[in-house]
Amino acid sequence: MRLTDCYNFHDFRRMAKQRLPGPIFDYIDGAADDEVTYRRNTAAFENCDLVPDVLRGVADVDMSVTVMGQKLSMPVYCSPTALQRLFHHQGERAVAAAAGKHGTMFGVSSLGTISLEEAREISDGPQVYQFYFHKDRGLNREMMARAKTAGVQAMMLTVDSITGGNRERDKRTGFAIPFKLNLAGMTQFAIKPSWAIDWLTHERFRLPQLENHVKMDGGALSISRYFTEMLDPSMSWNDVAEMVQAWGGQFCLKGIMSVEDAKRAVEIGCTGIVLSNHGGRQLDGSRSAFDQLAEIVDAVGDRIDVMMDGGVQRGTHVLKALSLGAKAVGLGRYYLFPLAAAGQPGVERALETMRTEIERGMKLMGCTSVSQLTRRNLRFRS
Ligand code: LAC
Repeated sequence: MRLTDCYNFHDFRRMAKQRLPGPIFDYIDGAADDEVTYRRNTAAFENCDLVPDVLRGVADVDMSVTVMGQKLSMPVYCSPTALQRLFHHQGERAVAAAAGKHGTMFGVSSLGTISLEEAREISDGPQVYQFYFHKDRGLNREMMARAKTAGVQAMMLTVDSITGGNRERDKRTGFAIPFKLNLAGMTQFAIKPSWAIDWLTHERFRLPQLENHVKMDGGALSISRYFTEMLDPSMSWNDVAEMVQAWGGQFCLKGIMSVEDAKRAVEIGCTGIVLSNHGGRQLDGSRSAFDQLAEIVDAVGDRIDVMMDGGVQRGTHVLKALSLGAKAVGLGRYYLFPLAAAGQPGVERALETMRTEIERGMKLMGCTSVSQLTRRNLRFRS
């Protein structure tokens, strides 16, 4: 399968599956428990229909949006995700460069495999720093200071990962970093030679945001152990209010789902919230962000920028979220499979595909700017 054969999410996913060792593919593709929420995230978009207007003169479409003070040339951004160089040796470099080319925002994760400083040099587009609240307060302070110095525009604190989700695919494969493979795992790697050559012939895998603070040689660190052992389960609204103050700039919480929490985010001075269930990877059975969007926008949409992520695979999914009042929509697996499949050209092709789909969709909806997408253009099926 070649990159030019990829026209949509499913094609990129298939190509990534061909290239990646099974345990790595399953880490990206998998979710918690029975993966009900993961499936619901995409299915949720099918409960409503777009109602287009016609004959509106749509020769020129402006799909730019402003979110948390950042101008994005299209209403989607690359959500920060972990461990990208494991999927393709270019990792975050490819994502930062592709996002920069497309004039949109991207994020570097606390579990990122290049430094947030290096990412800042690759793209001049807006950059968020995805932050986890660690038990080690020194690490928290250092991360914020580094992000400030590097010129990161927005802080994004993930609040839905207070403990590790039950990812049974990872349990079965033993997915951990560094690799501690059993025989079955080794076979999986041996049968994917192009990934293995890529891995062996490029610079060593690192976690530059964490390496001064975490000893990785002592044994393998699974994602679930990282969440459970290193992140602080006592994190509370007071801690976050202090962080928001200390940062003194654009600050958003990722993983807000209830109206009450959305209001508290406004009260402590956050400038954004991302409705998210972490791609279904944390609390299975939780509501999809799209299903919860209208309620949250109605409660706080005039006081804070509401974003969402989860299950977005099509330009029309984005149009539906914008119609309900989201300011921008985050992509995760949507760009990770293309990254795994083909590195930077893959991510670029995926973003280009999304851009084209959004533009086409807006034209067919009779809209020349994102502000014209409203609930008037959307009907839910009863
Ligand atoms: C995950 C974390 C690391 O979902 O964001 O695997």
